[in-house]
Amino acid sequence: MKTFETERLILKPITKQDIPSYQKNFADYEIVRFLAATVPWPYPDNGAEFFVEQMILPHQGKDRWCWGIFEKENLNEVIGAVDLWRVPNPANRGFWLAHRHWNKGYMTEAVTPVMDYAFTELGFEELFFSNALGNTQSRRVKEKTGATLTGIRDEAFVDPRFTKAENWKLTKKDWQASKNSF
Ligand SMILES: CC(C)(COP(=O)(O)OP(=O)(O)OC[C@H]1O[C@@H](n2cnc3c(N)ncnc32)[C@H](O)[C@@H]1OP(=O)(O)O)[C@@H](O)C(=O)NCCC(=O)NCCS
Repeated sequence: MKTFETERLILKPITKQDIPSYQKNFADYEIVRFLAATVPWPYPDNGAEFFVEQMILPHQGKDRWCWGIFEKENLNEVIGAVDLWRVPNPANRGFWLAHRHWNKGYMTEAVTPVMDYAFTELGFEELFFSNALGNTQSRRVKEKTGATLTGIRDEAFVDPRFTKAENWKLTKKDWQASKNSF
């Protein structure tokens, strides 16, 4: 799996070394409440360990790709992740970022090399995304990067106030057209 460098960030494949900082930054209701109800809350003390060892590493670089997001000046602390799945379930991509870093454009910056990689090296022609209806930040990342809203479905999230999900699609062509505009 490749490592990517953007203006402010490094994206490295998640490894066991990242488990402590993954746990520290992810186990935050402000993040987890936006995720599918299958994510446990309260987040268990071994949640990141289980996730990385059982859900990521056996699939890493095969049918799933999970990059940790690091600020260039601190390559020891994972502050977020971008996850890509070969088979949509129903989405091909997921992401999260430590709350203290929201609204700096980090996620828009982080998904850019991942989308390039997906379309140019992994052979995807289209990608499907999803977010809770009401998750305006996640929606905005998709809008900015050329995705099209295709529908709304019922879905359960960790925060029970979210009851519907938005479906999105990003084609290779729309990605190529939008990627220099944000
Ligand atoms: C979704 C998430 C990754 C976004 O990360 P980020 O680095 O803050 O995203 P960016 O800064 O690249 O873009 C966020 C956009 O949302 C906008 N935004 C933020 N809060 C908003 C709000 N309440 N209403 C409308 N827009 C909002 C920002 O202004 C920005 O848009 P802009 O560049 O046009 O100004 C982050 O909020 C997060 O981790 N959320 C919790 C987990 C989650 O929701 N994951 C996705 C599940 S589908």
